[in-house]
Amino acid sequence: MNNGDVSQGRRRFLIGATAAVGGVGVVGAAVPFVASWNPSAKAEAAGAPVTVNISKIEPGQQITVEWRGKPVWIIRRTQEMLDNIVKLDDKVRDPQSEEPQQPDYASDEYRSIKPEFAVLVGLCTHLGCVPSYRPDVAPADLGSEWLGGLFCPCHGSRYDMAGRVYKAQPAPLNLEVPPYRYDDDETLTIGLDPEAA
Ligand code: FES
Repeated sequence: MNNGDVSQGRRRFLIGATAAVGGVGVVGAAVPFVASWNPSAKAEAAGAPVTVNISKIEPGQQITVEWRGKPVWIIRRTQEMLDNIVKLDDKVRDPQSEEPQQPDYASDEYRSIKPEFAVLVGLCTHLGCVPSYRPDVAPADLGSEWLGGLFCPCHGSRYDMAGRVYKAQPAPLNLEVPPYRYDDDETLTIGLDPEAA
């Protein structure tokens, strides 16, 4: 039995070695293609900052942009949404953003540079599902105490309009706030801190 396994393994190794030798000629021929593909430029673009014009986002609207392969939400919060965030301070797990889920410049209860615009990574901190944007107050499926926020359909985690997770949810942490800065009143860049402006 064991001998059979060993010879199986050897055979696989021999096949692999032959394939590797056979591949040598191909590597030379493929160099021009590899050079033009330029993987370092691709990698750089994937991690590059993303600049977004926020002037067309309506009050209450959420848009999604992609940064480093992740969905990043920008939500233009209304005054009512901001008032509701404050009302939820005793219902959320980390109301003052003490855990390191955001840069220092976005660590108040609104978790943003300017209260009007939330910038959040749209991935649940439980197992990484994309939560749903649920700005509606007291909808039938979420109950009369729901004041608008983000709801994860995978295992039911609830977040408020600042991405703060409610107490006793599967998700352990608030949604992540990425580094970002305002270039001017209508433009923000995700992936750069304000100090770099
Ligand atoms: S992944 Fe969101 S609750 Fe589990």
